[in-house]
Amino acid sequence: MAIMINGAAVAPPEDARVSLLDLLRERLHLTGTKVGCNQGACGACTVLIDGERVLSCLTLAVQVDGREVTTIEGLGSESEPHPLQTAFIEHDGFQCGYCTPGQICAATAMLREIELGLPSYVTSDLTGNASISREEIRERMSGNLCRCGAHNGIVDAILQVARERVA
Ligand code: FES
Ligand code: FES
Repeated sequence: MAIMINGAAVAPPEDARVSLLDLLRERLHLTGTKVGCNQGACGACTVLIDGERVLSCLTLAVQVDGREVTTIEGLGSESEPHPLQTAFIEHDGFQCGYCTPGQICAATAMLREIELGLPSYVTSDLTGNASISREEIRERMSGNLCRCGAHNGIVDAILQVARERVA
């Protein structure tokens, strides 16, 4: 089998102890995905697996054999940025930018979760569709920390993209 990473097939590492984060950064040089805490607490290493967000520091590369991994490099490019990347720039959703790839991967999956009607801890009506609100976005993005404190801009950027999608 192979791991599909941003559309390209990659052989899983022979050493079963290699994390997905280390495979991406150290072996494939996809350094968009960042190392923060390396223990599941900050969200800097968030990538998408089959469209769902995961912490790549807590995932072994061999676990994703046969699955589709998307990193920030696979979401957008300088010439064709992802709408969230454009919105982050418009709303000052970053300062140092270190947390940004993880924030954007998490936000991509989070918007899909809302579209699928999956509730969060703050969703009041569990029988209806989750609404797109600042409170929902804050709660759903709470696993991604920004040490620069750009959280308000991040919420504004996600809110804009969410509203554009339902418009
Ligand atoms: S580096 Fe993975 S959660 Fe912090
Ligand atoms: S922009 Fe610096 S950590 Fe978020």
